Amino acid sequence: AQPLPPPINDTSSKLINDADHPFMPLQPGDIRGPCPGLNTLASHGYINRTGVTTPGDIITAVQEGFNMGYQFASFLCYSAFVTDGNQLTNLMTIGANTTTDGQLATGINTHGNFEGDASLTRDDAYLGNNFNFNKTLFDVFDVAAKEVGNGVITFEAAALNRALRINDSIARNPEFAFETPRFLGGIAETGFFLAMFVNNQTVDNTMPLRIEDARSFFDFHRFPDGFYRRQGPFEFPLVKNVTYTLIDMIGRQPGNNNGVNNYVVNPEDPATFCYFYQKQVNATASLYPNPTPELGAAIKANLVTYYNTLEDPTCEQYFPYGQ
Ligand code: HEM
Ligand code: MG
Repeated sequence: AQPLPPPINDTSSKLINDADHPFMPLQPGDIRGPCPGLNTLASHGYINRTGVTTPGDIITAVQEGFNMGYQFASFLCYSAFVTDGNQLTNLMTIGANTTTDGQLATGINTHGNFEGDASLTRDDAYLGNNFNFNKTLFDVFDVAAKEVGNGVITFEAAALNRALRINDSIARNPEFAFETPRFLGGIAETGFFLAMFVNNQTVDNTMPLRIEDARSFFDFHRFPDGFYRRQGPFEFPLVKNVTYTLIDMIGRQPGNNNGVNNYVVNPEDPATFCYFYQKQVNATASLYPNPTPELGAAIKANLVTYYNTLEDPTCEQYFPYGQ
């Protein structure tokens, strides 16, 4: 297990699409996946261009390239790493599993660990490919922008887009699953593109995203020319604020489809970040019921690191492998 990297020092806005980080097209074997943020960082060399990386490198890169706040970046990365990464080698990929130098690197494509349904630009796993860009789904941004945003993706248009994508899964995916962690993750991700894909975005995320810039990230995995990262880090309190505001606007609660057009809310799901952490710990424990001593020690250490990223003493800590 690795310790967290230190936070970056300078969190001001600055030019990110610079001469040291040119966009480069994919080489054979390079991996991209369901996250437009990580894909873009890889295509510009902020993380390894192969897409095979480590939690530490991801945490540094998302701060550097997008000004995602240190604590939230650590939380988000470990939320994926404990279920999708290789706990022994610390390798993870931003997409499919692969073997590199004889070592297995496992990735974030795996459906139901962190990746989930009602994505904005990727199909539900039940309906198709859960990591490749789908233009038909992307065009829902256009619909929402025209309806309430004067042609750009304002906060209102983003909320409408989020709601429309949920409605589509309810209508077409009989196995649509939308409980925490996916519920919070899927809604937070709408907050992400407003906060971090807009050129030189303000601290309070008030500038809208242009459709062509959205396309640049979601489809081409490329920073727009002259892209400046946001002003000030997008920290955990801001993430919570945006996420719960969007939940109120959308008016959906965590739940699952029981057949198409039959969305059943789960009243037991509190939709909190403590619960998000708890669910990921449970998922990790069920992935590794009988680890070797070495693996068990690594998982235990990673779960402690993960808990610490919450920085919330009101969240109960869980020890599936003992204290
Ligand atoms: C989606 C992981 C950072 C923006 C996803 C998904 C994963 C993921 C697994 C797929 C979820 C799904 O749609 O089913 C991560 C990890 C990160 C990270 C481990 C490390 C900190 C970022 C950053 C940004 C970002 C820094 C923006 C700058 C997004 C967006 C989506 C997404 C907008 C939704 C894509 C869609 O629905 O089509 N991320 N991500 N992520 N991520 Fe990331
Ligand atoms: Mg998905």
